[in-house]
Amino acid sequence: MKKQTSEVQSTAFTSVMEEHRLFHPSKEFARNAHVNSMEVYKRMYKESILNPEKFWSDVAEDLYWFKKWKQTKVWKAPDAKWFNGGLTNLAYNCLDRHLTNWHRTKAAIIWEGEPGETRILTYQVLHREVCKFANVLGKMGIEKGDRVAVYMGMVPELAIAILACARIGAVHTVVFGGFSAEALKDRINDAGAKLVITCDAAIRRGTLVMLKPAVDKALESCPTVQNVIVYRRVNEVQITMSPGRDHWWHEIIQSVNDKHEAEHLPSEHPLFILYTSGTTGKPKGILHTTGGYMVNTYFTSKLVFDLKDDDIYWCTADVGWVTGHSYVVYGPLLNGATTLMYEGAPNHPEPDRFWKIIDKYRVNIFYTAPTAIRAFIRWGEQWVLKHELTSLRLLGSVGEPINPEAWMWYYKIVGKQKCPIVDTWWQTETGAIMLSPLPGVTPLKPGSCTMPLPGVVPEVVDKEGNPVPDGSGGYLILKDTWPSMLRTIYGDKNRFKKQYWSEYKGYYFTGDGARRDKDGYFWVMGRVDDVINVAGHRLGTAEIESALVSHHDVAEAAVVARPDDIKGSAIVAFVSLESSKIPSLLLKEELRNHVASEIGHIAKPDEIRFTDTLPKTRSGKIMRRLLREIATSGSIKGDVSTLEDFSALEKLRDEDQ
Ligand code: WTA
Repeated sequence: MKKQTSEVQSTAFTSVMEEHRLFHPSKEFARNAHVNSMEVYKRMYKESILNPEKFWSDVAEDLYWFKKWKQTKVWKAPDAKWFNGGLTNLAYNCLDRHLTNWHRTKAAIIWEGEPGETRILTYQVLHREVCKFANVLGKMGIEKGDRVAVYMGMVPELAIAILACARIGAVHTVVFGGFSAEALKDRINDAGAKLVITCDAAIRRGTLVMLKPAVDKALESCPTVQNVIVYRRVNEVQITMSPGRDHWWHEIIQSVNDKHEAEHLPSEHPLFILYTSGTTGKPKGILHTTGGYMVNTYFTSKLVFDLKDDDIYWCTADVGWVTGHSYVVYGPLLNGATTLMYEGAPNHPEPDRFWKIIDKYRVNIFYTAPTAIRAFIRWGEQWVLKHELTSLRLLGSVGEPINPEAWMWYYKIVGKQKCPIVDTWWQTETGAIMLSPLPGVTPLKPGSCTMPLPGVVPEVVDKEGNPVPDGSGGYLILKDTWPSMLRTIYGDKNRFKKQYWSEYKGYYFTGDGARRDKDGYFWVMGRVDDVINVAGHRLGTAEIESALVSHHDVAEAAVVARPDDIKGSAIVAFVSLESSKIPSLLLKEELRNHVASEIGHIAKPDEIRFTDTLPKTRSGKIMRRLLREIATSGSIKGDVSTLEDFSALEKLRDEDQ
């Protein structure tokens, strides 16, 4: 990226080594599963495609509606409405619905702090806290439709905050605590948030991540924010409270009562905005609405995780990402399940923290990311083998392709060859899992997310949108709509249409490359656009480039990914400096820190390479393919006849030696 310009190029598909063995669920698992035979799955799938209205209407009946919908599905691509005319409330369905039976006293959230403390919130307690906080929001002048930014660590109050927003119909936008003040500011302004909810600090790997100071910095230029609520996670830390604007959670909660009636919200009422990286420098505010998201997350949690009443379920994602929204908070609570939340790092104080937690709380279902699995492999199986892990019955994976080696390790070392693995493919935009095995049914192939869930119609197509033969690579699209589909990019309907619906008319383009094999199994190979997946986190190369060129010494930057054993991809930035500036190690470090302060630590380039010029085509496009090759292997194959400046290429090669 030059100052002010951005380029989009697509990448080649990477191939995944295939394991040919099939792994079947045990008879015992299959017997007790919600979906317990291939015939049942096939029948459900068929019904969901032939008559989606009936299918989803039946699922929605499991949940509570103040007023029943008139139309189950209204669809004219790209605009979808689900359960149109219905009135409901997501928080009511997560909480109140469970208070009329024994779930009242069941643990809704089991929380473990990184320093080791435990808190258990039953459905009744969680309900009370959410009602109180809903009243706090009212007191702060937050009304239906207002946006509330949430920038917290993994504490139960984060779940309470978003459930309270959902209860009153305020639209939450959770910003991951690892994002910088600058990134927070952009998101607050894009959403036009009136209120920010934060913590004094978060605790991660034994150190403090100072959240409130970052909020203070962001709010220097966030005119829409009127109030800030601060949850005190770390007692002794010193922060500044701005009188009139900032309020302590524990103080303001004292002055409200614990009765609150959930708002009766239209099914299409906006529920949340979650920012995710796209192919431009500006993250997209993915907007989800109430009814469809509720039904889809309820349904997928139940089937994919085979949730039962006596399960302890643990998804390790942070609520700052969509996985945390759908499968730490909403999906499990809609099912009346017990969801475990852990605050900190997997290797604190030692690399067996996760396994310790599993044994301590007798966790039955464990859902994590391939990047974490690869880190566990690196740390050594002895850390796992120190623990029994006999409570586990099901494992899950999400966020990036899982390589078959990591899959096998997960299956053998963690799952002791008795736990099915659900490799779940989905996106912030899809709201809920789209492709996944059903654990009691689907024979597993390591590295494949197997088959579509009911209601999902995927296809692998070529550039023109024609289906490719089984076994060939292509672009993954989804035909038809599904209840938890994103409704728009907040404030940018045109971008929504262009980004997802213009490539293959009327079909949703995922941005992923995939292949379907002869058995109908899907193999998702990763992004085909300029989005990279670093440790399961989506980042736009353009976003990182734009952070780099905002540094006064940088003239131009191009960011590419190279494969990384642990993180999936590592970030490599090619940077050309303003003419008077001299490359140095110090400057490299300064630029890395600059990116961290513009976006967050997760976006810090792993490697920065200075170059006089970047290789470009005659039309001025940066040749990312070449940069990727150089970043990955140091050598260049393929056609370079479109290069504008061969000397640029030579210089890059020289630098490499
Ligand atoms: C990737 C995370 C392969 C994919 C839920 C997608 C996966 C992006 C898988 C979405 C999987 C997610 N196998 N790739 N099981 N799950 N991805 O929005 O590239 O943070 O487009 O949502 O992650 O990332 P996002």
